[in-house]
Amino acid sequence: MQIEIKKISPDEAEEKIDINIKTWYTTYKGILPIEVIDKCQAKTKERIEKEKEAIKEKNNIYGMYVDNKLVGYASYGAARDEKYKGSGEIISCYILEEYQHHHLGRKVVIKILDDLIEEGYQTMITRCLVGNPSNRFHASIGGKIVGQGTINLQGDEFAENIYYHKDLKKSLKLNQVKEKSIIKEEENRLVYLLDEEEIGEVEYKIIGDKTVDIYHTYVDPDYQGLQIASILMTELFKKLQKENLKVIASCSYANHWLKKHPEYRNN
Ligand SMILES: CC(C)(COP(=O)(O)OP(=O)(O)OC[C@H]1O[C@@H](n2cnc3c(N)ncnc32)[C@H](O)[C@@H]1OP(=O)(O)O)[C@@H](O)C(=O)NCCC(=O)NCCS
Repeated sequence: MQIEIKKISPDEAEEKIDINIKTWYTTYKGILPIEVIDKCQAKTKERIEKEKEAIKEKNNIYGMYVDNKLVGYASYGAARDEKYKGSGEIISCYILEEYQHHHLGRKVVIKILDDLIEEGYQTMITRCLVGNPSNRFHASIGGKIVGQGTINLQGDEFAENIYYHKDLKKSLKLNQVKEKSIIKEEENRLVYLLDEEEIGEVEYKIIGDKTVDIYHTYVDPDYQGLQIASILMTELFKKLQKENLKVIASCSYANHWLKKHPEYRNN
């Protein structure tokens, strides 16, 4: 599966609208009244022309391509709500149902965060209709719910959750770590790698018959607060459990982690 994320062109206006229509029906049926979806999603020549002009003018829409086929898109810009003036916003993000949950969403978010930071934004909001399972996505990319607003669709108001990112650089790191990092096993050591750079490690040594001591855990200060140490611990304890090794933890972090995870004690 070859994945590419790049700005869409005006010629793709109709395809973008088709994705919007299909995804609205698969996502919002049962959440919004069907008459509202039908009215919002009428496909007219006028709508296509308007879309073409908007793409030309704003250049703020990324397309997600799988094997050269457009399967989703996301748009961004300045926050539309006066209350969040000065923040950026991911305005829309729609992926055809069969291509959802393959990390295209997180990949496009990384591109958008990069752009917004480049444009000077430090904070961002996203909005998601109450009841949409995709609320989990908005939380997973690092947004915290700060309240609710409403969206007017065909004259009726519908509630939306508002997610706030108070530090875009931190959100970018969180998504890069979730998307691109791997854990590498070395002798008596697990290493957390992002683009081949070491950003975290845990070290242990054999101290007796079937016993190891975890004596050192470290996460690069730029990446602290993203659960990296905890993920490393979980991996290490799973590995040691499989090997039937007992653990003591002279590293204070490992000791603290073990107290919070009794399921791994005395293994
Ligand atoms: C929401 C959407 C853009 C997310 O893109 P995606 O490529 O499917 O999501 P990813 O694979 O990048 O998932 C990233 C994380 O979000 C979570 N997530 C995404 N969609 C989810 C859903 N519907 N329910 C629960 N969790 C979800 C994933 O589990 C993953 O979490 P993890 O990495 O912590 O395990 C996409 O699913 C979509 O188009 N949905 C329908 C339209 C929609 O609701 N758009 C948003 C309007 S506000």
